Amino acid sequence: MSKLSVRDLSLAGKRVLLRVDFNVPTEVKDGVTRITDDTRIQESLPTLNHLREAGAKVIVMAHFGRPKGEVNLKYTLRPVAEHLSKLIGKPVLFSPESTGAVPAAMVASMQNGDVLLLENVRFHAGEESNDSVFAKALAELGDVYVNDAFGAAHRAHASTAGIAAHLPQAAMGLLMERELQYLQGELTSPARPFVVILGGSKVSDKIGVIKALMQKADTFLIGGAMAYTFFRVLGIPTGNSRVEADKLNLAQEILDLAKAKGVRFLLPLDNMETQEISATAQPRSTGLVSPQKGVSEGWEAVDIGPATIELYSSEVAKAKTVLWNGPLGIFELPPFANGTHSIAKALAASDAVSIIGGGDSVTAVKQFGFGDQVSFCSTGGGASLELLEGKVLPGVAALSEK
Ligand code: 3PG
Repeated sequence: MSKLSVRDLSLAGKRVLLRVDFNVPTEVKDGVTRITDDTRIQESLPTLNHLREAGAKVIVMAHFGRPKGEVNLKYTLRPVAEHLSKLIGKPVLFSPESTGAVPAAMVASMQNGDVLLLENVRFHAGEESNDSVFAKALAELGDVYVNDAFGAAHRAHASTAGIAAHLPQAAMGLLMERELQYLQGELTSPARPFVVILGGSKVSDKIGVIKALMQKADTFLIGGAMAYTFFRVLGIPTGNSRVEADKLNLAQEILDLAKAKGVRFLLPLDNMETQEISATAQPRSTGLVSPQKGVSEGWEAVDIGPATIELYSSEVAKAKTVLWNGPLGIFELPPFANGTHSIAKALAASDAVSIIGGGDSVTAVKQFGFGDQVSFCSTGGGASLELLEGKVLPGVAALSEK
């Protein structure tokens, strides 16, 4: 990788501005904010600890939610500072301002190894507009910049991109490095067969990824509601299933592209259908689908069926590299989770390099207990998709060359 890494920096006594993605799901109960999934915070610990152990003063920048450039304490990072303190077993200082005299004074009294979290950078309009004055004000708090916020690297904001121009060194953190290694490095010349599993509700969300990966993949396994837009194109009855009726040309274009390139583009052979979306529903199989027989009139397909599970599992078993993005059914509801669960299980059992490309598919793989049996789970959502589409992420582009 051509970018400078945190491992290349001399850190002792340095004030390191570390950008992380602490945009974690929370819930408020009895007036107390609780973090419901701290994966992103946990994943930042290797870099944080690396910096502390090397004797740096760590000034952490992050965003939380979308406060639209205004102070809104609903989006304060204070609870995250408390949570982080518990994780590292040491008090984390918290600055209620992200720039100016308040954090400057706190930084001035930091000891090597201390950690200070700045308040949500999105409380300033200059963050999202990538304003150079705001970027410079952040930069004044540190000597070097480290970006570990992979999940926000697709945003050209002051703390993810602009800041790099105001400091002599801008390096990637250890999480950023791993994300790029798996979502980019491993897929440059993947071990074959290279199988891409794609699910989720919309073809339109995945079009960029499909087109980019069509140049590299041997086989696509399609599931989730996006499969039914392809069914419509092929004349297979879709019942009440979700179909993007205005994206049929796009779906046809993808099928033509796969054919022209000799890429196998597999759609579900059968599906589970229901008349009721609920945790007590009892879906039934559509049987093998064809233009004569598909999803029943008045029923909605909500998962892949048993024949598809068998086929997709055998494809996964033969693969040497698997990339998965998007669940294969409504896995949040147990009656419709079997397809996603079964494929996650097949992936856990395979010896392929297995990469889960972020968002719901990571949630699913972890929920089913297979998180540590795959090679990598991305912490990105939009960032993972954009990287897989082959786009240059502004947060990566801004980093110094090695
Ligand atoms: C995410 O949660 O995907 C990132 O933190 C980016 O957040 P954003 O979509 O609000 O920019």
